Amino acid sequence: MASPVHRRILLIGVAALTATLLLPVAIGAEEKAAAKAGAAASPIFGVSIPEGYRGWHLIAVSHRTDNKDELRAILGNDVAFKAFRENTLPFPDGAMFAKLAWQRVASPTFKGAWVPGVAPRVEFMVKDSRKYSSTGGWGFGRFINGKPADEAQHGTCFPCHDARVKNHDWVFTEFAP
Ligand code: HEC
Repeated sequence: MASPVHRRILLIGVAALTATLLLPVAIGAEEKAAAKAGAAASPIFGVSIPEGYRGWHLIAVSHRTDNKDELRAILGNDVAFKAFRENTLPFPDGAMFAKLAWQRVASPTFKGAWVPGVAPRVEFMVKDSRKYSSTGGWGFGRFINGKPADEAQHGTCFPCHDARVKNHDWVFTEFAP
């Protein structure tokens, strides 16, 4: 019959062994989650699709007709929306924009009206002045069918915004009245 002390030592031993055996499983699960998150993040910037972006505020719409025929909506989160309303630049850290782009298609129910077709792309700009100090404080992410676009495409984001709207904190969109 084991003494209480022996029993306690035995218990500690079993607990330690269990922890040792379970630890690799826990780490493995965490790594898998991280890898999954990494796979869904944009190259260069590591921006992933922000949760709840579809419920953000409408900042403006636009329509491009040159090489693409797209309807677009530019949305901003609470921080971006507030900065726009109060007309303060630069946008504070935490500000985020989404650009949703759809093919422009004829309405099936009303002639002459145009409505969003398939959504080929969604793009994001995320303000973090320290993390993205070399690109005006903005991290960029473009997703096609939920998957990040390649590195070459992400190499173009900042140069185009930088060449045209550097003096508007690298943001093209103006608040639609
Ligand atoms: C050739 C120029 C050009 C390139 C390259 C470009 N953008 Fe833009 N971007 C624009 C213009 C113009 C707008 C204004 C809205 C529109 O297009 O309707 C815009 C708007 C945006 C917006 C909404 C906020 C704003 O600035 O108005 C986001 C988010 C965005 N772009 C993300 C990206 C990402 C991510 C990339 C790279 C993968 C990218 N952009 C590459 C021209 C560009």
